[in-house]
Amino acid sequence: MAGGVAKMNGLAVTSPRKKVRRDSAAKATVVLGAQWGDEGKGKVVDMLATEADIVCRCQGGNNAGHTVVVDHTEYDFHLLPSGIINPKCKSIIGNGVVIHLPGLFEELEKNEAKGMTNWEDRLLVSDRAHIVFDFHQQVDGLQELEKGQKSLGTTKKGIGPTYSSKANRNGIRIADLLGDYSQFTEKFQSLVSVYQRMFPALQVNVEAELTRYKAFAERIRPHVVDTVSYLHSALKRGQKVLVEGANAAMLDIDFGTYPYVTSSNCSIGGVCTGLGLPPCHIGDVIGVVKAYTTRVGDGPFPSEQLNEVGELLQTRGSEVGVTTKRKRRCGWLDIPLLQYTSMVNGYTALCLTKLDILDTLPELKMAVAYRSKGKVLDHFPANAAEVGSVEVEYEKFPGWESSIEDIREYDKLPENARKYIARIEELLEIPVKWVGVGKGRESIINVY
Ligand code: GDP
Ligand code: IMO
Ligand code: MG
Repeated sequence: MAGGVAKMNGLAVTSPRKKVRRDSAAKATVVLGAQWGDEGKGKVVDMLATEADIVCRCQGGNNAGHTVVVDHTEYDFHLLPSGIINPKCKSIIGNGVVIHLPGLFEELEKNEAKGMTNWEDRLLVSDRAHIVFDFHQQVDGLQELEKGQKSLGTTKKGIGPTYSSKANRNGIRIADLLGDYSQFTEKFQSLVSVYQRMFPALQVNVEAELTRYKAFAERIRPHVVDTVSYLHSALKRGQKVLVEGANAAMLDIDFGTYPYVTSSNCSIGGVCTGLGLPPCHIGDVIGVVKAYTTRVGDGPFPSEQLNEVGELLQTRGSEVGVTTKRKRRCGWLDIPLLQYTSMVNGYTALCLTKLDILDTLPELKMAVAYRSKGKVLDHFPANAAEVGSVEVEYEKFPGWESSIEDIREYDKLPENARKYIARIEELLEIPVKWVGVGKGRESIINVY
């Protein structure tokens, strides 16, 4: 019995109660996208990974596209945590991620050719992660076709169908692939039949796929562990853990502009469920905010600029999707949106990226309120059509009209740039800890 009163020879004996305490020092730092994605999370993770022992992905799949630029070499990551560039960092793909194995190996080969080293000893994959098969990707495309005009503009990477299989409890996990092959075969055949009943046009060469996956099983096996206990024992040993969010809060299946969202929780909740990390092990939550707003794919976008401002942001910002090469839609920074995602995610600090893209603008605007039927809204609407029809109230700012690309100290930024940052801090009540002024690892200003 753990402390309290024990009976010995009929006499009550009080044993001293052993103090048990959870180690509160072991907290992971989390990096999350605060808008509709492509805020520059990859770059921020790469910067913070220099101090980390482990970097983890917790949700999403290869719908994500994270760019890291080191010594003029551009790496793009889709399934791999961006911290894998740091040769001292272990990289975990957590249980909440959906993995397309051919895509993962292709990504490893591509980045290895660019200079990524010794990943073999550093990549760890959860046995609970679900597998994205090629037929999930085909189904993604077929579903988009079926929706016609009302399509979501997905990346067609099979993300929605795979999370559907997971929720439907007929999905297939890495542990199934590595277990009894006849059981895996049965599960695979039955999952294919389900989708073929739904989509008679779906062609799957089951035998060829099974042979292919037998080979993938052996390639992935050395990397597969129970990432939950691995992570917890690392935290206990005092290792520094960094979590890299994929996609972004406004694409979150619960909090985003549903149905124009992805199929996972890309906000803070996804960190807990996607890694088996309880809230007491979460420390700093860094919101990555682009100095303006972009969106790839369909759906409402209140501060979108379908004019020369939008075009300038798109060209100067090279706003083209890393995964699908689609042009990103562009608009002004949106404070009501950020106030909403800040509520959901609880950012402790912000990294404001791509401020340099605004360098040439004589005047800037910032969305500061939404109105509907003449009234200022006090919450972010749930209904996508309502989000699409809000009237946006803007504040105007004079631009700085000079290059900030080479600036590395906050005080050396033009006054108008500092005013823009200060207003963001004031409206969101969160400190802007870093400011991005270029693509490279070194192009960052440490504000605090
Ligand atoms: P992620 O998905 O959030 O990781 O972002 P992406 O990599 O998809 O898109 C961000 C793009 O902006 C990439 O091409 C980055 O190299 C680039 N980038 C990130 N931060 C900055 C910055 O401060 N200034 C400039 N000019 N480019 C940046
Ligand atoms: P990163 O991590 C931008 C968008 C797609 C589409 C919607 C649903 O690079 O910021 P999906 O294929 O997930 O079912 O598509 O979500 N989307 C992203 N947009 N950046 C991303 O990731 C995205 N991941 C998904 O364009 O509109
Ligand atoms: Mg991206």
